[in-house]
Amino acid sequence: MCGIVGYIGSRPAVPILLGGLKRLEYRGYDSAGIAVGNGSVGVFKQKGSVGALEVALQASSSMLGDATMGIGHTRWATHGDPSDRNSHPHTSMDGSIALIHNGIIENYSALRTELRSQGFEFASDTDSEVLVHLIDSIWSSCPELSMEEAVRKALHHVDGAYGICVISGRDPQRIVVARKGSPLVIGLGDGEFFIASDAAPIVEHTKKVVYLSDGEMAVVTRDGYHVKTVGNEAREKSVTELDFDLEEIEKGGFEHFMLKEIFEQPVTMQEVMRGRVRHEDGFVRLGGIEDYLDRIRDARRIVICACGTSWHAGLIGEYLLEEFARIPVEVDYASEFRYRNPILDEHDVVIVISQSGETADTLAALRLAKEKGALVVGICNVVGSTIARETHCGMYTHAGPEIGVASTKAFTAQVIVLYLLSLVLSKDRSLSRHDISLYLRELGEVPEKVSRILELNDQILEIAREYVDSRNCLYLGRGYNFPVALEGALKLKEISYIHAEGYPAAEMKHGPIALIDKDMPVVFIAPQDATHGKILSNVEEVRSRKGRVIAVANEGDEEIARLADHVIYIPSAAAPVTPLLNVIPLQMLSYHIATLRGCNVDRPRNLAKSVTVE
Ligand code: F6R
Repeated sequence: MCGIVGYIGSRPAVPILLGGLKRLEYRGYDSAGIAVGNGSVGVFKQKGSVGALEVALQASSSMLGDATMGIGHTRWATHGDPSDRNSHPHTSMDGSIALIHNGIIENYSALRTELRSQGFEFASDTDSEVLVHLIDSIWSSCPELSMEEAVRKALHHVDGAYGICVISGRDPQRIVVARKGSPLVIGLGDGEFFIASDAAPIVEHTKKVVYLSDGEMAVVTRDGYHVKTVGNEAREKSVTELDFDLEEIEKGGFEHFMLKEIFEQPVTMQEVMRGRVRHEDGFVRLGGIEDYLDRIRDARRIVICACGTSWHAGLIGEYLLEEFARIPVEVDYASEFRYRNPILDEHDVVIVISQSGETADTLAALRLAKEKGALVVGICNVVGSTIARETHCGMYTHAGPEIGVASTKAFTAQVIVLYLLSLVLSKDRSLSRHDISLYLRELGEVPEKVSRILELNDQILEIAREYVDSRNCLYLGRGYNFPVALEGALKLKEISYIHAEGYPAAEMKHGPIALIDKDMPVVFIAPQDATHGKILSNVEEVRSRKGRVIAVANEGDEEIARLADHVIYIPSAAAPVTPLLNVIPLQMLSYHIATLRGCNVDRPRNLAKSVTVE
C-alpha cells in the first residue's frame, strides 16, 4: 500500500524524503508528494512517480529546499482516482497542517458530511482528507491543545486503518505520527529522526529503529521522541537493530529488482537453512518455535492462512506437512477464513504466512485465530513486522528485503521453512532419523541445482520471445507441483497482464481443455515422478488439439521432447523438493515475457507490495 516517510533533523529534508520515497515506491506509485516545515508548511505533489516529482521540483522555483523537516508519500489509490488533487499530503484549508495517510478511513463519508456542515471544503476525493480537516476542526476550536492532543482527539472519531504523519506551521518543531493497522517505524539517528512505513528508506541512515504497535502515537522532535497510546498511556519501546544492509535493497547491476531477486535464490535458500540444518546427521532446529513444538505436534489440525503467493507456499506446505508430519492440514485464503466463522479451538494450530508481515487479511486471520484459542505460528520475511510480532511464535524466512512487487525469493524461502517444519514435526512419527537426513540432503542440493537452472536464462528468453503476444496461458502440474502451476500463472498475469490460469493437470479434461487451440500455450510441469506417465498423456491431449506446449522436465527425459514444442530441462530431485526447482524457470519465463512486452515488472499496474487494506 502507500509509502510514508518523514524526517526531522538538521540536514535538508527534501533529498532525504525523495530518496526515501524512491525506496518505498514498490508500495504504490500512483502519485507522490512531500510537505516540509519551514516556519510555514510547503507542499509539492502530483500524479505519477517519485522520479517525476523530483524533476518537477527541480524545475520549479520552490523554496522547499531549506527545510530540515518534512513528510512524504507515495500513493496506491484506494478512494479517488490517481490524480494531482488526490495526491498526498493533504492540507487544512488555511494550509497550516499537512497530513499523509496509509490505510482506509471507513467512516470517511459520515465524517465528510459532518465537516462540510461545519464549512470545511474538500479539495480531493480521498478518504484521507477528512483526517486533516478533522484535526483542524478540533484544534481550531481549542487552540490551547498541542498538535499531539488535537491528533489524538481526531483519531477517536475515526474507524478504519491508518498510518499517519502530521506536521503543522502552528507547531513547527515536531512530527506527530500514529498507527492502527498500517505499519510505522521510527529510525533513531544522532540529532535526527526518520519515519517510514517500513525500514527500507531508513537503513541507509541508521540501523536503530523503533516499531510502533497498533494504537500507538509518537511525537518526534530533533531532541527525541516519545510514544503513547491513542488512549494517552505512555509506552516504553525497545530499540531494534536492523539486520540488513543498503546493498540488499539496491539492484546490484541487474536491470530489475525482480531479476536480481530471482538470481539471489541460491543464496537466499542457503540463508533460510543457515544455523537451522546439519545436513550430515539429519539435525534440524527451528529456534523460533522450539518452546511450542509439543503443542504443534499434538495439534488436531493445522490451518494455514495466507494470500497470493504466500498462499501458494501454504498449499505446498499442506502436501509436505501431511506427508511428513501426518497432521491434517487445511489451507485457506486469509480473506475467506476470517469471514466464515471458522471452527477453531485450542487444539488447532494456525500458521500464517506473509512476506511483508503486514497483509491486512492475514493479520485479521491471525487475530481471529488467537481469539478462538488456537496457537498461531508465523512465517514472515520482514523482521519486526506486525504479523511477526503478534503471533505466538514463528520462523523468519531470512530471504532479505524483497523489493520487486512480484514475490520470488520470499516464496522459495517460505517453502523451505515449511519443508523444515514438516521434517521437525515428522520426528518420531513417520520418518526415521535416516529418512530425515536423506530429505535434508535433497534440500541441501537445491541451491546448487537452482544455480544450474539460472544458467538457462538465455534459452528461456528465446522461448519467451515466441509467446510475447499470447493472450492466455495455461499452467498444469500435479501433486507438489500443482501449487507451482498456480504460482507460475500468477507470476505471468501479474507482471505481463496476460491472462493465465493454473490447474491440476488431471483436471484439464474437466473443463479447461475446451480452451485449447493453436493460440493457447500450455506450460506443463513434468518432473519424473509417479505421475509422469499421466502428464505425458495430458501433453498428448493438448498436442492433438494443436495447443503449444512448454514443458519443464528433468534432464534425460527424452520422451517429452517428442511431444513438447519447448523443453526446459532441469535437474531431477526427490518429489518434495521439486517445487523449489520447477518454480525457477516459471519465474524467469514470466519475467522475460513481461519485459519483452515492455511492462514494468518491478511495479506492475494496480498492484502494491504490501496490501495493508482489506
Ligand atoms: C504475488 C504477490 C502477492 C503476495 C500477497 C501476500 O507475487 O506478491 O500475491 O504474495 O499480496 O503478501 P504477503 O506475503 O506480504 O502477505
